[in-house]
Amino acid sequence: MHGNDTPTANLRELKLDEAAAEQGRKARENLLQQIDAAGGWLSFERFMELALYAPLLGYYSGGAQKFGAGGDFTTAPEISSLFGACVAVQCEEILGRLNAASILEIGAGSGRLAADVLGRLESLRRLPEHYWILEISADLRHRQREYLARHRPHLLERVHWLDRPPAEPFDGVILANEVLDALPVVRFRWHADADAVEELGVVHSDGHFAWRGRPAGAAMAEKCRMLSRAGGDWEDGYVSEYCPRLAAWTRAVTRSLRNGAALWFDYGLPRAQYYLPERHDGTLLCHFRHRAHGDPFLWVGLQDITAWVDFTLLAEASRECGFQLAGFTTQAHFLAGTGIDAEMQFVAGNDAHRFAQLANQARQLLLPGEMGERFKAMAWQRGMHEPLRGFEVLDLRHTL
Ligand SMILES: C[S@@+](CC[C@H](N)C(=O)[O-])C[C@H]1O[C@@H](n2cnc3c(N)ncnc32)[C@H](O)[C@@H]1O
Repeated sequence: MHGNDTPTANLRELKLDEAAAEQGRKARENLLQQIDAAGGWLSFERFMELALYAPLLGYYSGGAQKFGAGGDFTTAPEISSLFGACVAVQCEEILGRLNAASILEIGAGSGRLAADVLGRLESLRRLPEHYWILEISADLRHRQREYLARHRPHLLERVHWLDRPPAEPFDGVILANEVLDALPVVRFRWHADADAVEELGVVHSDGHFAWRGRPAGAAMAEKCRMLSRAGGDWEDGYVSEYCPRLAAWTRAVTRSLRNGAALWFDYGLPRAQYYLPERHDGTLLCHFRHRAHGDPFLWVGLQDITAWVDFTLLAEASRECGFQLAGFTTQAHFLAGTGIDAEMQFVAGNDAHRFAQLANQARQLLLPGEMGERFKAMAWQRGMHEPLRGFEVLDLRHTL
């Protein structure tokens, strides 16, 4: 996701239109009530879940535009169709090794990635049997259907929206770009001097949300000790987070994949880097109108709330789910491996102006200071063992 870092004081001065202000008021009211119903303290995991997904009131359940220039943030598929083209090249390799294979995309946003992947697979003559979309947001489903009807009308019959992962086993590819970062996380504070851990939850007073710690349960404290051994010597008061539901969630969404690969794209780090002592305030990142900041209590219900992905945890989940960890690399190296330069030539042909536009977009996807290094790609495979071209240029599995 892309957005400019913004001091939160400047954000508070942003003016909202009446509809957005009303939506925000309702979302806030709902959370205040939920805190009261929970006895005055709500775990941050539950707060994040409600802020993002409460029916009609959560960020992803409400109707506002989220993606692109008129929204809150920009993802790789929104920056350029080159991203989807390269993902399609990787899918083509996998689909070509299978019979009657399909694609399941999780969290399809505006529908652009689906349109770009389907478009490129069509030109590669490797269309999937089905293109399923598992999308939690009713509003986004509607927007995805409209986008695909406008841009890929002749392929729409292959696209199906699902309420839950496919029940029947299937062969193919599972794709998720920037979905794992939206899974709710727990937040904790480390007390080095007392060898104690607090779970950070949310309280309110005078209508304002605030952090409040309480002693962590034994399982959480043990988990934090393990993370501190991985990251280094945490100082007293070190705050961070982790995603307790990642393994169960990935298991649920990949269960029906019989033969094929799951491809995960997101921002994050291997555990040892994620939990370095200097990252002492965690990785929460919120997006509102192209401003990025770290305060989840601002613009509740109107802003996205995310946390970086611990890719070591995701690698552990691959084994728990019965997959082989087939690759881990940066977004830039994935795009290089799947031939972003050839894709630019393919799209631009002899049009020098178009090529210059694409080169500019490619820079945003590739450069280390932009999305190239912060974003990673991970592949899990089941029932197949051949190397995947997107992961051959740089193999970072040893860092996990
Ligand atoms: C940040 S957006 C990314 C959208 C798109 N993949 C892209 O790259 O532009 C996150 C997407 O995941 C969806 N989502 C979040 N949690 C989900 C879940 N548990 N199951 C299915 N979709 C989910 C959101 O509604 C949204 O479409």
